[in-house]
Amino acid sequence: MNKIIIFYGPKSEFDKLIPNKYQNLTEIVSEHEAERREITLKSLGDPKEHIKREIEEFVIGSDEYASVNEHVVTNFCNYISNFQIENLYIHNPPICIEKQLNKIFADKVTIQKFDYPQFTVDNLKTFKDTYSQHIIGQDKARDEIAANLYSMLKNTNTKPLVLLFYGDSGIGKTETAKFLSQLTGCNLFRKQFSMLQNNQSFNYIYGGAHSEKCFAKDLLDRESNIILLDEFDKAYNAFHNAFYEMFDEGYYSDTNYNVELNKSIIICTSNYKNEDDIIKNLGMPIFSRFDAIIKFDDFTLETRKQIIANCYKKIMLEFTTEEKDFITKNDLLNKVLSFAKYLSNARIIEKKIRECISKLLISQL
Ligand SMILES: Nc1ncnc2c1ncn2[C@@H]1O[C@H](COP(=O)(O)OP(=O)(O)OP(=O)(O)O)[C@@H](O)[C@H]1O
Ligand SMILES: [Mg+2]
Repeated sequence: MNKIIIFYGPKSEFDKLIPNKYQNLTEIVSEHEAERREITLKSLGDPKEHIKREIEEFVIGSDEYASVNEHVVTNFCNYISNFQIENLYIHNPPICIEKQLNKIFADKVTIQKFDYPQFTVDNLKTFKDTYSQHIIGQDKARDEIAANLYSMLKNTNTKPLVLLFYGDSGIGKTETAKFLSQLTGCNLFRKQFSMLQNNQSFNYIYGGAHSEKCFAKDLLDRESNIILLDEFDKAYNAFHNAFYEMFDEGYYSDTNYNVELNKSIIICTSNYKNEDDIIKNLGMPIFSRFDAIIKFDDFTLETRKQIIANCYKKIMLEFTTEEKDFITKNDLLNKVLSFAKYLSNARIIEKKIRECISKLLISQL
């Protein structure tokens, strides 16, 4: 063995480290199985020791631990002793692989951790200046978020900033998290917590076999340090204690993986009505771990009208000049604006405008 590089971070960055020509774990395992079967058959007549196969560049991608037999992972060093390996590159491995390699090849192992782009003062300025062009009527939420981001920027410790957004449906909570991550130029890490509503999700949160999907592994593979735990209120309550350490220290671990979330921004969204509702449903231990609880306001009539106008303008771009003329002649915008008081959700506003336009255009066919 010449060198072992263990890399923690996104796949796109791991790909930059590895050589162009290599063999991966899945190939090696299946070829090795085939060879073993052949050797076993031959050795019945000729019990000669077989020569170790040479692998110059051996690359193990983060998605490969799930596709091989459990024993390859749990007895990793034992398994790779079947080969003569020159260089080994490993992406987001389970704890047991790093431990074994450190024990047996301590002087060959280099651990590299990706430095995630941080939210910067410039990002904060852009957030403050352009937020209300994208998300309308949430200026109070914007100012609270900005104040918290500012404290995080000033703070020298590595603890994540943990925010809980709450409010009615379709008023900009998820969109705000997306907007924040766009500012850093990274793909938002988004997990839909409404999927975690029963005990089957237990292994996803606490870890199970290496072949199973798990949250810690998804976090290791993340592209961004902005983490959205969407619809956090819909997750099974028994899972909340899994997040104590993550929210406190920026550290998440399950049976197989450890994850560091230094200086990350963790946003949980919910549809709670008020702070009492949050405490009642989430409980004080998790409530007290949020750095800020941010209310998203219901839309005022003025906000609804502005969203309708913007949405109408955006949708109109999809139509031909004749269609646009017909829609305008029929005063469709004013018709939608006249029932603004019934439209409290931006998702429904968009649907309503599309529906009205379709009905109108069909009528002239
Ligand atoms: N305040 C707003 N201004 C402009 N567009 C908005 C606003 N709120 C929501 N939208 C639009 O409505 C859609 C849904 O918004 P979003 O996903 O942020 O809702 P949400 O508050 O997270 O709702 P839910 O609680 O149901 O998840 C998005 O396409 C978004 O662009
Ligand atoms: Mg949402």
